[in-house]
Amino acid sequence: MKVEIITLPKIEDPRGNLSFIEQLKHIPFEIKRVYWIYDVPGGQVRGGHAFKKQQECIVALSGSFDVVVDDGRVKQTFSLNRSYYGLYIPNGYWRQMTNFSTNSLALVLSSTEFSDEDYIRDYREFLNAKNWVKI
Ligand code: TYD
Repeated sequence: MKVEIITLPKIEDPRGNLSFIEQLKHIPFEIKRVYWIYDVPGGQVRGGHAFKKQQECIVALSGSFDVVVDDGRVKQTFSLNRSYYGLYIPNGYWRQMTNFSTNSLALVLSSTEFSDEDYIRDYREFLNAKNWVKI
């Protein structure tokens, strides 16, 4: 599966709407970890790295933000502002999160437990890993 916006189930109800995600059904991986990013001061940027193994699905549970996904050649920007959309990102993509609105809440579902060794934090190393350039 490529980077894509997944439309999640949305159960509309006059009492308030409800959405959900099931592993291996709405997203193509088992969920090993859930984390969330919140209280982001205006203008701050999160991410700015790639994962060797981690696949993820990012949901704007509240507010809005942009996710810039880069395969080493092409950058795509996804604006997330609805809690029934998930952005699926396979491993091996450089990604940054920007333009957080006040009180935004980013939920990240991850296919791996936390491992610092899974991060590629150097962009040239990322390009090298993608074999687009040789250092
Ligand atoms: P990082 O993934 O670099 O944040 P972001 O990509 O959103 O800018 O993580 C920030 C710090 O938090 C880093 O020291 C690692 C730590 N961390 C954990 O300990 N466990 C986790 O599940 C995550 C996502 C981060």
